[in-house]
Amino acid sequence: MEKEKFDTELVMSRLAEVYDPELNRSIVELGMVERIEAKDGRLTVKIKLTIPGCPLKNRIQSDIEKALSDIPEIREIKIDFSAMTAEERKNLTKQLKGKDPSESFARKNVKNVILVASGKGGVGKSTVTVNLAAAVARRGFKVGVLDADIYGFSIPRMLGIKGAPTVIDNTIIPLDSYGIKVISMGFFISESESVIWRGPLVHKAVTQFLSDVYWDDLDYLFIDLPPGTGDVALSVANTAKGVNSILVTTPQPGAYMVASRIGQLVDKFDIKMLGVVENMSYFLAPDGKKEYIFGTGGGTELSERMRIPLLGQIPLETAIREGGDLGKPIALSDNSTPASVEFGKIAEKIIAAAG
Ligand SMILES: Nc1ncnc2c1ncn2[C@@H]1O[C@H](COP(=O)(O)OP(=O)(O)OP(=O)(O)O)[C@@H](O)[C@H]1O
Ligand SMILES: [Mg+2]
Repeated sequence: MEKEKFDTELVMSRLAEVYDPELNRSIVELGMVERIEAKDGRLTVKIKLTIPGCPLKNRIQSDIEKALSDIPEIREIKIDFSAMTAEERKNLTKQLKGKDPSESFARKNVKNVILVASGKGGVGKSTVTVNLAAAVARRGFKVGVLDADIYGFSIPRMLGIKGAPTVIDNTIIPLDSYGIKVISMGFFISESESVIWRGPLVHKAVTQFLSDVYWDDLDYLFIDLPPGTGDVALSVANTAKGVNSILVTTPQPGAYMVASRIGQLVDKFDIKMLGVVENMSYFLAPDGKKEYIFGTGGGTELSERMRIPLLGQIPLETAIREGGDLGKPIALSDNSTPASVEFGKIAEKIIAAAG
C-alpha cells in the first residue's frame, strides 16, 4: 500500500509543545522523540523515556495524543516507549545543567538563595522557611525549598509532601508541593529509618543537594539550615557563596549570644544578612491583648547587634502549628490571620532586599 503523505513538520511542531512533566522542557528538545512513522493513516511515535518505567509515562502518552488529535490525516496514534541509554541520559543531564556542570546551582538556575538560620533549635526556623516560601510563591515567584536539616528534616511534613524524587544520571528532580519545588533528606529514607547510618554520607548528601538538584529556573530558593553553625551550615555557606540569609530568633532576651557565632559565618563567607525574623513574639488573647509569653526584646537585640533590620514579628498561633502538622502552611490559607499577614509583609521585604 502506498505511503500516505503527512506533514512531518506539523507533527514535530506539535510534539515540541509536549513537555516532560518533571523536567518541564519540550520532549523534542530533550531528545525524547526518537522517530515518527506514518502508514495508512496510522502514526507511530517512538518515545525514549529518561528512565525505564517512568511513572509519568501515561501523562506523556495522553499529552502526545492530545497534541496530535486535530491533525486530520492521522486516524490512529501508536506510541512506542523505550528508555534512554546511559549515554543518552548523560547527554541529557549535561544539557540540563548547562555549560559548566561543575558549577554550583546557586550561580545558575537560581536567582536568589535565602538561607534560614538560627542560633538554636526549636525557634520555628522550619515554620518560618515554609511560610515565607509560600508567601513569596503566592506573589507570583518561582520558589524552591531545600531542607538542609539532614538529621532533623521536617519540611516534607510541613509541606504535606511524600515520595521518591526521580534521579536521572545523578541529577535529582525535586518534588512539587503547592507549586513549590522541594528537596529533603526525608524523601530518601523511610520515616522509621534513622539517618545515623548515613552519617559519613551527610556532608556528601548536602553537597549533592547543592550541586545536583535540577531546580530549573527559580526566583528564590529557601534553605532551611540545621540549628547553629555546625558542619552542615558550614558546608552550605561554603558551597553557596554570594547568598542571602535571614536569622530566626524567639523574643527571649540574650539572643545576641548566638549572634556572634553567626556573625563569624557572615564574615568568613560572602553572605548578605537581610534581617531578623522574631518568631513566637506574642500571643493574641481573646480580649485582643498581646501576651508576651516568651518575653520581649530578642529580635530587636539581635538586629541591633548584627546591624541588620528586624523584618517582622510572628505571633504564636494555633493555626501555625496546625498548618505545620497538616502539611499546609498558613501563608497559603485564604483565611488570613495576624501571622499570615506578617509573613506576607516579611516576604515583601525579602523580595525588595534580595532583588
Ligand atoms: N508562631 C508559632 N505559633 C505556633 N506554633 C509555632 C510557631 N512557630 C513554630 N511553631 C511550632 O513549634 C514547633 C517547632 O517549630 P519548627 O519545627 O519550625 O522549629 P525549628 O526551629 O525548625 O526546630 P528544629 O530546630 O527542630 O529544626 C512546631 O510544632 C511548629 O508548628
Ligand atoms: Mg527545623
